[in-house]
Amino acid sequence: MSINIGVIGTGGIGQGHIERLNNQTADAKVVAVNDINKETAAIVGEKYGAKVYDNPHVLIDAPDVDAILVASWDPTHEEFCTAAIRAGKPVFCEKPLADTSEGCKRIMQEEMKTGKRLLFLGFMRRYDAGYRELRYAIESGRLGNPLILHCKHRNMHPSGAAHTTDMSVTGSLVHEFDVIRYLIGEDDPYISAQLVCPRRAKYADEDLIDPQLIYLETKSGIRINLETFVNCHYGYDVQCEVVGDEASASLPDPSHIQVREAGTIGFEIKPSWQDRFPEAYVVEMNEWVSDIKSGIVTGPSAWDGYVTAKVAECCIESRETKQIVPIDLGECPAFYKK
Ligand code: NAI
Repeated sequence: MSINIGVIGTGGIGQGHIERLNNQTADAKVVAVNDINKETAAIVGEKYGAKVYDNPHVLIDAPDVDAILVASWDPTHEEFCTAAIRAGKPVFCEKPLADTSEGCKRIMQEEMKTGKRLLFLGFMRRYDAGYRELRYAIESGRLGNPLILHCKHRNMHPSGAAHTTDMSVTGSLVHEFDVIRYLIGEDDPYISAQLVCPRRAKYADEDLIDPQLIYLETKSGIRINLETFVNCHYGYDVQCEVVGDEASASLPDPSHIQVREAGTIGFEIKPSWQDRFPEAYVVEMNEWVSDIKSGIVTGPSAWDGYVTAKVAECCIESRETKQIVPIDLGECPAFYKK
């Protein structure tokens, strides 16, 4: 059985997902596309032989579209995911799930009304071999109890002229907030957040606070320090070290050839997320399609999206108030318990 997919948002990652679905995923074909930018949609539609829809809601309701992939701009995710859920169709949503934690809750309400999980959220780091290995190391008990996590998320440059201080947290760090839960287990929720700002980096625009440093605490007492730096200039660099009472383990860097030259030994640091995590996106798409076929969604959920949105809000509040902010996630609905 091949799954016919409709894609809303044919920009950077939308095109990447279309390529992966058509050429690197078993039993999937993109049959429909929509983008507010009609020119882009037309080019992508023609390239992949997909029908171009002017109206995203008509695409969602089209009888020959089995599942929806949402890769449009962040503020549109809630509208399209809600429409897909109401149409009873499986939906893959790129992160973030919604602009606010309240928006995430609304999506959860809609999904719970259907009685079954339909939404798969694009937290692709869960599909990265390095993070998976790190999780196995923790689960095996080899590290002892995790005590501290040191995490870094550095981008060469901001994501565009419109990049804001908040977006470093709501757009980038949500990946960290999610993958840390994936690593240490979801039964140990975050309980507080603090965001502090060192002096501004030389290359950061005047209206951008960069870097930012976050301290999170979990219920069991694990402390996490987390850096976002979107003007690091040297590459796209994601690091994670878990310090336990028996041993510590770090996320491996992707394997590259080692070059000895000019008195140094080194390897390349890739410039972007596309180059850093290419395999994870392919695994993610295959898992999504496999979930659609089995009828059981196993991927990151709307609850996972809610948690990251709530943590992001607490971090931003901490930056504004200069206080440590308690994180009250509330009870995870039974519907989302794994
Ligand atoms: P982009 O700007 O390259 O593409 C977004 C596309 O959505 C554009 O072509 C735009 O015209 C279209 N769009 C905007 N509003 C629309 C609407 N109302 N209806 C239909 N189309 C609309 O942005 P990019 O980088 O592809 O990001 C898209 C989404 O994917 C964002 O939410 C972003 O946060 C997420 N993302 C996730 C990544 C991950 O690692 N999981 C990496 C990069 C982006």
